Amino acid sequence: MISKAIILAGGKGTRIGPGSLSISKHLIQVYDKPMIFYIISFLIKIGIRNLIIVVNPGDEKSYLKLLGNGKSFGIKIKYVKQKKPNGIPEAFKICSKYIYNKNVLLILGDNFLYPKNNNELNILKRKIKNFKNGSTIFTFKVKDISSYGAIKEKNKKIIIKEKPNNSFSKNAIIGLYLFDKNVAKYFKKLKKSNRGEYEIIDLIDIYLTKKLLDIYKINKQSFTWMDLGSITSIIKAQKIVSKNYQNLKDTNGYLEYIALENKLIEKKMVLKGLKKYGKNEYSNKILKLINLKKK
Ligand code: TTP
Repeated sequence: MISKAIILAGGKGTRIGPGSLSISKHLIQVYDKPMIFYIISFLIKIGIRNLIIVVNPGDEKSYLKLLGNGKSFGIKIKYVKQKKPNGIPEAFKICSKYIYNKNVLLILGDNFLYPKNNNELNILKRKIKNFKNGSTIFTFKVKDISSYGAIKEKNKKIIIKEKPNNSFSKNAIIGLYLFDKNVAKYFKKLKKSNRGEYEIIDLIDIYLTKKLLDIYKINKQSFTWMDLGSITSIIKAQKIVSKNYQNLKDTNGYLEYIALENKLIEKKMVLKGLKKYGKNEYSNKILKLINLKKK
């Protein structure tokens, strides 16, 4: 069972600069809502209610202004500052006192996880509920693997490679990982790579060597996944969300509505939240979703 998630929302965001010098990448709007709303709504959908958001020291204020302690969405949010972007696995060191030696989910804040229906969502929900030990990673088939961590199975042997060439595999490791309570202990074994960061692939490799790694291939029919680290991918995601805007079956990222649907808050809390935002596309869609629910 996993009940807590760490969202990594630090980093430099160089590729989407220069704006990222003053705004956290994860607060940039993807069509009608900030990038981080999609992740939080995804986490609520799969049953997580306790979040730790890792932020750059200067960014905490902006996150607090937008999300507070999570109460308006019926969840709990804690913020942990990462002094320097020393790499993804460092999350387990700086968040260890909040994980209390428990299993944990890690998600990269710039990953766009956009379920098209409930099929994969239900599977993920079960994986989190039934998780006991080891690590579970998730893969997604991509056309160009050269900028991702990749995985391939050959003669029942699993090989992991960072940014390989396209002949290696088409299966990218996405920024969603489940780890057991030993993860902080294994983090201590890691050394920084040539680029001066702790690498998530090295941590996964420890679980692989111990034969404690589970790999789940996400079905593209029911899910869209993208890494929003570049301007091109952000534009692609904007197009997907804008195309789905009129579709009232698509609730991805509409935080207050998802909280209401999951019985975490009441309707009057939703309306209070929307009042704070004022009139815009985001508020309008939530109002439409609520009206639909009433019918
Ligand atoms: P990256 O995309 O690898 O790095 P970045 O966001 O700094 O972007 P760029 O390469 O353009 O400079 O990071 C993946 C995600 O993990 C992203 O959401 C930021 C987050 N992150 C941290 O929170 N702390 C870290 O130390 C690192 C390396 C990344």
